[in-house]
Amino acid sequence: MQLKKPTIIALDGPAASGKGTLARKLAEHFNLALLDTGALYRAVGLGVLKAGGNPENEKDALNAASKLNEEILKSPEIRGESTGAAASKVAAMPAIRQKLLEYQRNFAVNPPLGKIGTILDGRDIGTVICPDAPYKIFITADVETRAKRRFLEEFGPDGSNDDYQKILFDLKARDERDMNRSEAPLKPHENAYLLDTSNSSIEAVFEAAVKYVSGKNVK
Ligand code: DC
Repeated sequence: MQLKKPTIIALDGPAASGKGTLARKLAEHFNLALLDTGALYRAVGLGVLKAGGNPENEKDALNAASKLNEEILKSPEIRGESTGAAASKVAAMPAIRQKLLEYQRNFAVNPPLGKIGTILDGRDIGTVICPDAPYKIFITADVETRAKRRFLEEFGPDGSNDDYQKILFDLKARDERDMNRSEAPLKPHENAYLLDTSNSSIEAVFEAAVKYVSGKNVK
């Protein structure tokens, strides 16, 4: 199978849509280097929180962005819900998006030795970062399904309804910010292959994505 050159897969979608899992599986399957671009915004958000700053303050965010490093990018704390909320606030700032743009584009076109291409997952990869990527995928699921998945991941089967409601509330707030910001809002590129995972397993979604990239049987 011959993939289109340069092999770049742009994978976008809302929080808890299964994007990260799909990105990892596709990277492994096609031998691509993976960049989780949400981690960049999360690292900036966490940097602000750690410095005792306010994620809605552009100066605090720019200060944290200028100190981005591997250590903070690898810190387990970047996965927390409070970091996610801070990330979505700093991600609404054009100056922060601009600061992270070049790094992402460079990564996209320079796969490390041994990899045949790259996959970037985020919110604006197909629309802003790599609009020329030959493969664009937009993965989504309804917000209740996403909240239920996140809830089961975090609390297991014994979580309370209050915990679920809080997760649902937070996800809706993040969707609202990510989709309605003026700069690079979350939306599918017009040529993106749309995958709705509300009623599909990650295996089925992965198979559909592989067929799309391989140019086979795309509906
Ligand atoms: O995918 P994630 O939940 O790790 O992303 C964290 C936040 O970063 C999310 O609220 C939106 C923002 N983000 C973005 O604006 N653009 C990207 N390319 C990736 C993430």
